[in-house]
Amino acid sequence: MAYALLILTVALAMPHIPAQGAAPPPSVAKEYLEGHNKARAEVGVGPLKWSEELANASRRLVRYQKRNMGCGLTSLNNHKYGGNQLWTINNKTMTPRTAVDKWVQEKEHYIYNFNECMSYFRTCVYYTQVVWRKSLELGCAQARCSQYGTSLTLCFYNPPGNIKGERPY
Ligand SMILES: *[C@@H]1O[C@H](CO)[C@@H](O)[C@H](O)[C@H]1NC(C)=O
Ligand SMILES: *[C@@H]1O[C@H](CO)[C@@H](O)[C@H](O)[C@H]1NC(C)=O
Repeated sequence: MAYALLILTVALAMPHIPAQGAAPPPSVAKEYLEGHNKARAEVGVGPLKWSEELANASRRLVRYQKRNMGCGLTSLNNHKYGGNQLWTINNKTMTPRTAVDKWVQEKEHYIYNFNECMSYFRTCVYYTQVVWRKSLELGCAQARCSQYGTSLTLCFYNPPGNIKGERPY
């Protein structure tokens, strides 16, 4: 049964995986989702769903950064979607799981009662976007620039989180 389901899942996924610059395989999408949805469940927030549209948009942007910016960080201010990004150097491998874990690690600095980060020198906005209740969809992509040893991981969220004056949940 599980085997049949696996075949079916793969078969359904196949037409959506073009050779070049393909959508992430379902296992990659699943890895991004799992990290997010575990952190959300821990604070009683419902799961995100994978969005092909958001995945495509994040893929377009990381490709742009790869072509023009050496896989550097991008500006996500005033973007249509909420966004979390992560940059690495030294050819460091960044799996989806590790990337999401990095964002979720900010949780230890986040004080719910004040909706603030514990210290001026910390950020909590990556974590609050991960667990933002009104965000319902997720799509992520990664680019690597081996000539510089850099990588950029980017996730988009819709509707966007981190709305001023609102709490994540
Ligand atoms: C996402 O991109 C793929 C591959 O380019 C394309 O086939 C698909 O229609 C796009 N989906 C959406 C929702 O934009
Ligand atoms: C990263 O790895 C690639 C492939 O292994 C290598 O060609 C490149 O020189 C490395 N880049 C840096 C900056 O270490």
